[in-house]
Amino acid sequence: MTIAGKTILVTGANRGIGRALVEEALGRGAARVYAGTRRPLTHPDERVVPLTLDVTDAGQIRDAVTAAESVDVLVNNAGLSVYDDLSDRAALERLLEVNLYGTHGVTSAFVPALTRSRGAVVNILSITAWAPIPVIPAYSISKAAAFSLSQSLRALLAGAGVRVHAVMTGPVDTDMSRALDIPKASPESVAHAIFDGVEKGDDEIFPDPVSDAMAESWRGGAAKALERQYAGLVQPG
Ligand SMILES: NC(=O)c1ccc[n+]([C@@H]2O[C@H](COP(=O)([O-])OP(=O)(O)OC[C@H]3O[C@@H](n4cnc5c(N)ncnc54)[C@H](OP(=O)(O)O)[C@@H]3O)[C@@H](O)[C@H]2O)c1
Repeated sequence: MTIAGKTILVTGANRGIGRALVEEALGRGAARVYAGTRRPLTHPDERVVPLTLDVTDAGQIRDAVTAAESVDVLVNNAGLSVYDDLSDRAALERLLEVNLYGTHGVTSAFVPALTRSRGAVVNILSITAWAPIPVIPAYSISKAAAFSLSQSLRALLAGAGVRVHAVMTGPVDTDMSRALDIPKASPESVAHAIFDGVEKGDDEIFPDPVSDAMAESWRGGAAKALERQYAGLVQPG
């Protein structure tokens, strides 16, 4: 997979990592970038085509599928984080609605297009999928669930020639992590590493120094070996 000449769709494209992914795709020579946003967006590059896309809105997802002529790479970047202590079920449901069901809904809708292009899904997840941060437990649960979703989709879509990449992101300097006073990677460096990982065909992508420290142990570990073994249970086709 090379980004040059391809059509990329990024959700949550108006700010943070999503906006950096749009610029990175343009810089790598993407032919077209569909920018999914909840509010109207304008962009000076004519290769950018705005799409109104709240990932929790089934009607907007259907309209996006109709509007996009083809898609080679779907980047499920839109995400939500809130501080909670698991005492409020509604907070957990809201995070699952965006981070899990939003990712599931958009991906399911674009599977036919991605099958035609033999394309790729890129899910922007978090290392909290593996080590929950107890001040954002509902967020951590939603990312853990979205990681499991990514692993199953990888096995289920392999026969259709569609790759599924899970981006195990550490702290990045965006609105989402504004309150955290810790070292953070820039959205631009993270976007660069994400498309490097897609071009290399990495299942898991570790796009910043904190997550990169986990890469080797994950790739050579028992859990990854078991994922590969279980993937063999899916019948091709
Ligand atoms: N920043 C970090 O440290 C970090 C670490 C690990 C993983 N991540 C993940 O990286 C991704 C991007 O986050 P970010 O750091 O760039 O955060 P951000 O600056 O807060 O941006 C979040 C983006 O998601 C969009 N969004 C939220 N709910 C949506 C919905 N229902 N439908 C469509 N778009 C929606 C937002 O749109 P609006 O502008 O309309 O709200 C915004 O564009 C997320 O999946 C996040 O979980 C971030």
